[in-house]
Amino acid sequence: MSNVVLGVTGSIAAYRAADLARELMRGGCTVRVCLTPSAEKFVTRVLFESLTGQPCLVWAFDEPEAGRMAHIDWARQADLLVIAPATANILNKLAAGVADDMLSTIALAYTGPMLVAPAMNPAMLANDTTQESLRRLVARGVEIVQPAEGEVACGEHGQGKLASVSEIASAALALIGWTRSLRGRRVLITSGPTREPIDSVRFLSNRSSGKMGAALAKAALWMGAEVTVVTGPTSVPPPLGASVVKVETAQEMLAAASEEAPAADLILAVAAVADYRVAEPSRGKIRRTAEDLLLRLVPNPDVVAELGRIAKPGAVLVGFAAEPTDDLAVAREKLERKGLHFIAANDVSRPGIGFESDENELVLIGRQGPPERSGTLSKIACARWLLERVARALPG
Ligand code: PMT
Repeated sequence: MSNVVLGVTGSIAAYRAADLARELMRGGCTVRVCLTPSAEKFVTRVLFESLTGQPCLVWAFDEPEAGRMAHIDWARQADLLVIAPATANILNKLAAGVADDMLSTIALAYTGPMLVAPAMNPAMLANDTTQESLRRLVARGVEIVQPAEGEVACGEHGQGKLASVSEIASAALALIGWTRSLRGRRVLITSGPTREPIDSVRFLSNRSSGKMGAALAKAALWMGAEVTVVTGPTSVPPPLGASVVKVETAQEMLAAASEEAPAADLILAVAAVADYRVAEPSRGKIRRTAEDLLLRLVPNPDVVAELGRIAKPGAVLVGFAAEPTDDLAVAREKLERKGLHFIAANDVSRPGIGFESDENELVLIGRQGPPERSGTLSKIACARWLLERVARALPG
């Protein structure tokens, strides 16, 4: 049974933490709640103690078991720390490492997966400091369940409403029970788009955000792997703990990944690599004229196929196939042509999954056996689903 510490902070949405605690318990977790003193203005310790059957902490010196230093004890025993609702105050404290109440002190002593679900006034969420704190937390591997848009308690309209309890609970449950099945393995991930220059200011590219690559990197780290990400330009940084090599073009991606590939046990090619580049990019800026402009494109190297040629014996090679269809024939053809062990088909014609979205759905095709379908999952849950399956193909 997994131990979850649920931190509740001083938002009017604090009452919804009671349903969240229940939902996590239904998911098989033991839930212990820590309220901030401001949260206790909205909800009571007795509510959570009755609901969870566990002690509830509020004050920095609360000691349900004498002499055990509750902040260290709870941090050590937790498999997951969830803070929902999370106010701007707690986000900024977490980012800065401030520990001035029981919850922030537990958070500072805690080293495992963490999820925060912000809820606040839209202007407080948009504030530069809050946004900077969120970026810092994401870079440290903290999972954020974004607040929804709508009318918030103060009557304003905008983004700031606590996400739904089921959304927070399923994101939380995806973060627990991780096996260390990639311990001692080296994982190489190509991620994001490539940019192929047209002139000094323009390029050919695509809609890959790097979210799927970052999720795979995070999942591989949590499963114990040493992770290198070779990434094209993205707005989503790979997680802290992964080595990151930043590239722009397909040729640069091939050069950087080729340095790492011979040592990798598992190669995950999630990058959306441009198949063509401009034969002769212009220096400076192409000027507009009344004439048509023709660009001659030449094929780029097939990065993952080249990596397969230099990978060590026993290494497992996984490609992705972004296709505007759920027909698996093209993905199967890519599996063969590129010499892959697996290919994850990604139907990018469906709204809400694939490029740029927070969720994905994959069909994993191997060399043997029927294809397996992940169902629609958050990208981190999808990454875990995929890694658990391909890890079984690694030699013992
Ligand atoms: O980044 P996100 O916004 O989170 O979106 C995720 C995603 C949709 C980009 C991802 O899930 C995905 O499907 N990635 C593969 C994208 C793709 O362009 O696939 P493809 O069918 O063109 O290529 C097939 C495989 O060959 C891929 O593993 C690709 O990395 C690789 N390839 C392709 C061309 C090339 N020149 N070199 C390659 O290595």
